[in-house]
Amino acid sequence: MNVLVTGGAGFVGSHLVDRLLEENHQVTVLDLWESQDIVCHNNNPLYHFVKGSILDDNILPSIAKDKDRIVHMAAILGISESITTYDVEQVALVNIVGTIRILKAARKFSVPRVVFPTSPDVTWLNPYSITKQTTEKFSQLFNKEYDVETIALKFGKIYGPRERWLNATMGSPFNYQFLIPTILIETLRGNPVKIFGDGNQKSEYIFVYDVVESFVRALKTEKNLGGEIIHVGRNKNYSVNDIIETLERCWDRKIEKEYVKMRSGETPTEIVLDNKKLKDLLDYELKWDLTKGLKETIPYYEQAFKSFDNF
Ligand SMILES: NC(=O)c1ccc[n+]([C@@H]2O[C@H](COP(=O)([O-])OP(=O)(O)OC[C@H]3O[C@@H](n4cnc5c(N)ncnc54)[C@H](O)[C@@H]3O)[C@@H](O)[C@H]2O)c1
Repeated sequence: MNVLVTGGAGFVGSHLVDRLLEENHQVTVLDLWESQDIVCHNNNPLYHFVKGSILDDNILPSIAKDKDRIVHMAAILGISESITTYDVEQVALVNIVGTIRILKAARKFSVPRVVFPTSPDVTWLNPYSITKQTTEKFSQLFNKEYDVETIALKFGKIYGPRERWLNATMGSPFNYQFLIPTILIETLRGNPVKIFGDGNQKSEYIFVYDVVESFVRALKTEKNLGGEIIHVGRNKNYSVNDIIETLERCWDRKIEKEYVKMRSGETPTEIVLDNKKLKDLLDYELKWDLTKGLKETIPYYEQAFKSFDNF
């Protein structure tokens, strides 16, 4: 396949790019920055990096042409950062208008399929969740009215090596306060970890290699799954307190906690994702349980802690 991956320098995108290149697919990445995790592919003739924005109409047509698939990862994330740190209009522009431009390009150049990640159905009022839910509707519109085959994969919290943290020093344009990197990094720094609310809010936690496998299956399937929104979960969620306890066990280390008031953009919820469509449509069941995934994740942050100066 000849695949365009928008946001391919990011956490999830870079793992997917590794896998696609391993399988000898041709990969073009469009991103605002080139992370170290994809720079390593520069000598691979199958890899092509384009630095720029999905909103730049001078770039998109030339790289959408002749593609067999588009994986659209580029977005501004952050349940609370999309309120407190990033401009709400910019979040809407990148996440909604950017997605529409990708879908228009797919239509114009007859790209056979667009696969993209989305986030859980919540009633929270934050620009990230609002815009991700809106992109699902636009993708279904393009599938129904304009014959663009779109498949949405819905994830809870994705974790694993390369997920960045607030104030990460890797040159990325956006950083966020994601739970697992925050716990590991604050503990390595000798600081207590701030827990929002009582720590009983629950979500599904999906290890990034399971995420990559779901994308690869959605890219390759011979079924027409146009308009589908496939939940990638295992009908099992964990509270923030559960995550901390499991990390303490896997890491054999005490994690100091400080309970603070709930952050903006989120209200305590129990998110769970049904795995029926994942099994029926993509013939997949998640392979990485929480303990196995965390044991694979911890060494990355220990190593990062040693490598970065301004930690
Ligand atoms: N990480 C999670 O827990 C999670 C959960 C559900 C869905 N998702 C979705 O998965 C996708 C990837 O998330 P991630 O965790 O890898 O985030 P990330 O921030 O690591 O990756 C996103 C990438 O998009 C790029 N980007 C942002 N604006 C851009 C623009 N205008 N033009 C080109 N590139 C741009 C960023 O530079 C970044 O490299 C996102 O669409 C996100 O909404 C992530």
